[in-house]
Amino acid sequence: MKNRKEYFNASAATWDQRYQNRELTDFIGQLVSTFNLKPGQKVLDVGTGTGILIPYLLKAVGPTGHVMAVDYAEKMVEICKAKYASVPNVSLGIQRAENLDFPPESFDAVTCFGLFPHLENKEAALKQLNRVLKPGGKLIIAHALSSEEIKAHHRTVSVVAHDVLPDKAEMKRLLKQAGFTGIQITDEPGRYVCLSSKP
Ligand SMILES: C[S@@+](CC[C@H](N)C(=O)[O-])C[C@H]1O[C@@H](n2cnc3c(N)ncnc32)[C@H](O)[C@@H]1O
Repeated sequence: MKNRKEYFNASAATWDQRYQNRELTDFIGQLVSTFNLKPGQKVLDVGTGTGILIPYLLKAVGPTGHVMAVDYAEKMVEICKAKYASVPNVSLGIQRAENLDFPPESFDAVTCFGLFPHLENKEAALKQLNRVLKPGGKLIIAHALSSEEIKAHHRTVSVVAHDVLPDKAEMKRLLKQAGFTGIQITDEPGRYVCLSSKP
């Protein structure tokens, strides 16, 4: 496998098999409920993959809210579209986090679930995420693993073997540099959540 995008495209067809575990999906539902999203909000899910987070985000924002979900891997988006293209308040697109095609201040919240370690240019991506958030908007970076567990998990796949979460100090530096404040990081077995907001 030459690069990450090829790896994710090649993984798309079987990606949902990872979530055939009730304990994991219940955990994700519980995790999203802690994001404090509100009915009527517009949420951008970046690196959505096959859209595993979409039903939970929809539940949080309700029928008056909207979920925009993007990924750079076309095959992931294809599968996501087969599941969610007909849902009225969901939109899907092929986009790269480092170069988002949305007007400034479009979203109340941005979620990155399982994405952050894979970003090739974290500075550029964070700058884009900040740009598309409304003032007061929230950035939620989350994983169903701790940073150490992610490291061990990725080590088994050569193309993503070096994809790790920055340590807390570096994460804070990157977020501050991109214009985020109120940074809170929880890193514990089975959960990584980094919350911050655009002033
Ligand atoms: C580990 S998967 C997580 C997918 C999904 N959020 C989930 O938890 O099932 C990471 C996803 O991020 C996407 N991705 C990686 N780098 C990206 C980038 N720079 N821009 C957009 N998507 C990206 C990959 O194609 C992949 O679908």
